[in-house]
Amino acid sequence: MAPPRLVVLTGAGVSAESGLGTFRDKGGLWTQFDLADVATPDGFARNTDLVHQFYNARRANAAAAVPNAAHVALARLSMALGDDLLLVTQNVDDLHERAGSRDVVHMHGTLTGAVCGVCAHRWTAPAVMTPRAPCPACGRPTTRPDIVWFGEIPFFMDRIAEALQACDIFVAIGTSGTVYPAAGFVAEAAAAGAETLELNLEPSAVVSDFDASRFGPASVIVPAWVDEVLQGR
Ligand code: APR
Repeated sequence: MAPPRLVVLTGAGVSAESGLGTFRDKGGLWTQFDLADVATPDGFARNTDLVHQFYNARRANAAAAVPNAAHVALARLSMALGDDLLLVTQNVDDLHERAGSRDVVHMHGTLTGAVCGVCAHRWTAPAVMTPRAPCPACGRPTTRPDIVWFGEIPFFMDRIAEALQACDIFVAIGTSGTVYPAAGFVAEAAAAGAETLELNLEPSAVVSDFDASRFGPASVIVPAWVDEVLQGR
């Protein structure tokens, strides 16, 4: 299969208008919680109950949220382009899928996933996870959300690297460009010759790495951009 011509990376900003908090904006999740307590393996070992409660709340918020016009536009793009588009997301919500996108690459994992910390068995997470729940495969009480925490290796990096080397266009949507390796994707794609575009509410930390940027709410600027791409085909 030919590599995708277009790679899109999304971040928390694409789900902001669906009511899901971002991390670093005013009132964002990392202004309410210390990420060391709820998004690191050490934090999980220190207080497993707190971490399960944190993700149980995010899982419930995500389940109650509705995809916004940006998710719907990207689903329209994925239906039109098929394998010519690779949609990579840093988000752990399933709003891209619920809007109709297929084969979404969740590099930071998903709220709907659970994994055993010992036998690595994976299954669909229950709405509420607790420290004492046994792994369905090995029975040990070592279950955790299938989320990539700080200090852990993001998922699907080989597939993403291959796509960044081959794509003609790289677009980042709704991400602050502060967390690597995702923040470095634009430089990788540009070095391989891709045209790069940032769609964000405000300039990201890596805005100068992009050929072009457009600023505004994702629900407005993403559908407009998708219309341009589809008209230009
Ligand atoms: N439309 C478009 N962009 C928006 C909107 C909106 N309605 N609202 C906020 N944004 C932008 C903000 O300007 C900011 O640049 O979305 C970005 C959100 O940045 P962060 O909160 O840092 O989220 P993100 O970039 O996805 O964080 C990356 O950090 O904590 C880890 O694993 C977590 O995946 C996350 C990673």
